[in-house]
Amino acid sequence: MTDPTTRFQRLQQRYRDGDLPWDHDTPPPEVMAIAESLPPGRALDLGCGTGRACVYLAARGWHADGVDFIPEAIARAEERVHHAGVADRVRLFIASVTDLHFLREPYDLVIDVGCMHGMTAEELCAYAGEVARLTRSGGLYLLFAHLHDGTSSDTPRWIAKGMVEQLFAPDFEVERIEYGVTHVCDTSWPSAWYWLRRR
Ligand SMILES: C[S@@+](CC[C@H](N)C(=O)[O-])C[C@H]1O[C@@H](n2cnc3c(N)ncnc32)[C@H](O)[C@@H]1O
Repeated sequence: MTDPTTRFQRLQQRYRDGDLPWDHDTPPPEVMAIAESLPPGRALDLGCGTGRACVYLAARGWHADGVDFIPEAIARAEERVHHAGVADRVRLFIASVTDLHFLREPYDLVIDVGCMHGMTAEELCAYAGEVARLTRSGGLYLLFAHLHDGTSSDTPRWIAKGMVEQLFAPDFEVERIEYGVTHVCDTSWPSAWYWLRRR
């Protein structure tokens, strides 16, 4: 687990270098399936990067808000949103997802594809509070995270397996978890998709 400043600097350098292996044209199939199966509503993308999920959702009638703490990510997202012609349905914010005091709306759908899994325990606590506050009762929180499953002796880089359920247990019911392995360049990690329903 790296401290927030070091993580910010590492990520900012990646955006400056264009080293963004996750940044495909479309969001992952799990996000696309949700976008198509639910009636369009209000969505919040935490750690939105260059806005691929916001654009996908907005193109299908959703109102999407995206938050990322890297200014270079939001600049790229603004371009992408503009280019896709969905600027009237997307709002983008440069901020940490651990403090979203400027957002008030209850969201029907909150997604996080690869943002929260590198946070410290303190950040996770603040983040979970914001996710609970902003997801409407009955709304869905869709999360993709890399996991630390205890098999590596290295300092854990990702969130411990079981921690997501623990963190959100007071406010969400686990509807579904799909475990897998994610390959990024020549490295692979255990990972999971979580579908959590706000009580
Ligand atoms: C692996 S990238 C995925 C980006 C996007 N979700 C996607 O699927 O294309 C993770 C993103 O989370 C952002 N992020 C990490 N920690 C954050 C924090 N505390 N607040 C806001 N954004 C954060 C990073 O800047 C990065 O853009």
